Amino acid sequence: MLPSIASALLVGASVVAAQTLPVTDLVGTWSSKSNSTLTGPKFYDPVNEKMFEPDHTGISYSFTADGFFEEAYYRAIANPGNPACPKGIMQWQHGSFTKQANGSLVLVPIAVDGRQLYSDPCTYKTSVYTRYNQSELFERYEVITDPYHNIPRLNLYQFDGSPMMPLYLAFSPPEMLPTQTLNPTTVSSSAGAKATAKFKRSTDEITLPMNHKVLNRRREPMPADRWWWFGVFLTGSGAVLYFLF
Ligand SMILES: *[C@@H]1O[C@H](CO)[C@@H](O)[C@H](O)[C@H]1NC(C)=O
Ligand SMILES: *[C@@H]1O[C@H](CO)[C@@H](O)[C@H](O)[C@H]1NC(C)=O
Ligand SMILES: *[C@@H]1O[C@H](CO)[C@@H](O)[C@H](O)[C@H]1NC(C)=O
Repeated sequence: MLPSIASALLVGASVVAAQTLPVTDLVGTWSSKSNSTLTGPKFYDPVNEKMFEPDHTGISYSFTADGFFEEAYYRAIANPGNPACPKGIMQWQHGSFTKQANGSLVLVPIAVDGRQLYSDPCTYKTSVYTRYNQSELFERYEVITDPYHNIPRLNLYQFDGSPMMPLYLAFSPPEMLPTQTLNPTTVSSSAGAKATAKFKRSTDEITLPMNHKVLNRRREPMPADRWWWFGVFLTGSGAVLYFLF
């Protein structure tokens, strides 16, 4: 066995040992300030392969007590060359999550289920509809009572410790699609999705860098202590998967 595989196995095993059950303070559907991008059937319809454009950009995460998550993103992408032509992107995925012993959250999506709808109306006539599969690592999180709105607020911190936009509790119990694998069929890209989205702007999207999800981005410079995550998640080895799941 190659040394790198062996160390990945060891790391995988210690991750399993370090995992704790998700804690109940995360349970619910959380949404950014505009509260119009929400997980669940109003964002994505897996039966008819449709995504529904929310009224405003934003993001939403749902978590269950037994370790499932769902997320919905609707973002505008600034187009400085032509401000009248904003591009937009909708992303949806779901899967399972674990809380690590040091407080970090690891979200592992069901690869075949995630969907992305990319709209660049001034360049393409139809939106580009593809699969979407992106593991995520949050360094830590906290649930507080928002002092201004007096409602539960979830602060998620990205892998590098920088905060995401605050999320507010929209539903508890969470509003989610079924948590098991929904649609293991092939999605071809550019599948003529109907959404000719006109992306409305809100303050939500501006602060969110496109690289907030980092686990698989090989091009990102990353501190050395994060590299072994690549080993855990990207080694195409059945043995590693066996240890993880
Ligand atoms: C927490 O643990 C995870 C894996 O167990 C690791 O990737 C992450 O860097 C750790 N975070 C901190 C802040 O030590
Ligand atoms: C999904 O992403 C994971 C890493 O996050 C990768 O290991 C896996 O191969 C991807 N699956 C597909 C079908 O793209
Ligand atoms: C967010 O929207 C949902 C559904 O429209 C509503 O039930 C909830 O009260 C809203 N939450 C906030 C904080 O405005």
